[in-house]
Amino acid sequence: MTSPYAQRRALLATQLGNDGVAIIPTAPEQVRNRDADFLYRHDSYFYYLTGFKEPNATLVITGDGKSTLFCAPKDAEREIWDGYRLGPEAAPAALGVDTAFSITELDTQAPRLLDCHKVVWYPFATHKGLETRVDGWLGSLRARVRFGALCPDQQRDLCSILDEMRLIKDLGEQAIMRRAGQISAGAHIRAMQLCARMLREGQDVREYHLDAELLHEFRRLGSQHPAYGSIVAAGANACVLHYRADDAPIRDGELVLIDAACELDGYASDITRTFPANGKFTGPQRTLYDLVLASQEAAVTATRAGARFTDPHDASVKVLAQGMLDVGLLDGNKVGSVDDVIEKRAYFQFYMHRTGHWLGMDVHDCGGYLEPSELGQTSERKDALTGEVIINRPARVLHPGMVLTIEPGIYVRPAAGVPEQFHNIGIRIEDDAIVTATGCELVSRGVPVKADEIEALMRA
Ligand code: GLY
Ligand code: MN
Ligand code: MN
Repeated sequence: MTSPYAQRRALLATQLGNDGVAIIPTAPEQVRNRDADFLYRHDSYFYYLTGFKEPNATLVITGDGKSTLFCAPKDAEREIWDGYRLGPEAAPAALGVDTAFSITELDTQAPRLLDCHKVVWYPFATHKGLETRVDGWLGSLRARVRFGALCPDQQRDLCSILDEMRLIKDLGEQAIMRRAGQISAGAHIRAMQLCARMLREGQDVREYHLDAELLHEFRRLGSQHPAYGSIVAAGANACVLHYRADDAPIRDGELVLIDAACELDGYASDITRTFPANGKFTGPQRTLYDLVLASQEAAVTATRAGARFTDPHDASVKVLAQGMLDVGLLDGNKVGSVDDVIEKRAYFQFYMHRTGHWLGMDVHDCGGYLEPSELGQTSERKDALTGEVIINRPARVLHPGMVLTIEPGIYVRPAAGVPEQFHNIGIRIEDDAIVTATGCELVSRGVPVKADEIEALMRA
């Protein structure tokens, strides 16, 4: 059976057409400090087409369907220090590519592979300096046109093809994402339970204690990395959207917001839960929590094939805006009706991000947010808060196999006119949804979202 990687290479080749050639490097290694590197993470596009995780590699696919891999050569000395290398001799059998060379031969072989093609495709925005390198290869090819070389005369962004392919997750990808969601959900449960237990025992609980618990559970179950920097935010820190787990104390009576999830076999999960540190919501906390949850439920209901990407966001905003009026976060005498709150974006004071994003190999995964067949249908509107003129285009229609997050929230910074009981409460609830024909499958619900269920598991 052909591997999914070979199938993707073949599909890409048909889209390149006979006069196209594509170049896809993996990610470079990155220095962290002096001679220590960051933990290596492959490039997602490259991995999508190869399943190969080593650094120092580039894939070339020609429109005739042939693939050539350049990878690190075998080197007994280096392998003692850095570990096993597949090497070009073993690569065709292991990865199903047609040909493989040492990466040291890329500059000499690339012009030959580009020859006789009209269009060279490569990722424009993700590999710094690649365009200069491609220019060099084209230059050496141009120098040989008198001897019969045919140099490509067009350069195109390969991401425009690969982003569309990656947007729909196949069954194998969905299975990995389901498992990543399960592992991450289990980690959230452990962090909640540890928090309540440490407080009950009178211990000094810090954000990093919960971060450690998450990491432990991710790795214990085979995940390679966190999918992004974990947010563990105690109390008012939850109102800082990109807060990182730090050393702040977690106090009895506060909420804790955890936005953390693992990457498994190259695929991200992305989960947020907000819970009372001691296991019991206060009245005002519960009021806002139930509002965010109701807004998430509305968004989940709006997530199905045929709906637009923006429908879940609009559904959330509607519930949040009405709720903000009901609980007194917004004063109807000042801001008007719920329609006014939405129209004037008055809710933005407490809800300033979108309700979701594509999820896949990258936590904010690739894929256009506009419907490709309707790009010409533009309309203009003036933003109520900034006065800026915004060009609207129809949002993407959802299809089975697309995966997105659903993550509404409320963040209440102290301000004049804002009821004090809500000050410094930050709540977000985030789940990962695979779009299906009739709705969506939430693959992150191994950790509950209902307030009563969270309280019950924190008592356990
Ligand atoms: N964890 C990043 C996000 O929720 O988008
Ligand atoms: Mn997210
Ligand atoms: Mn998140």
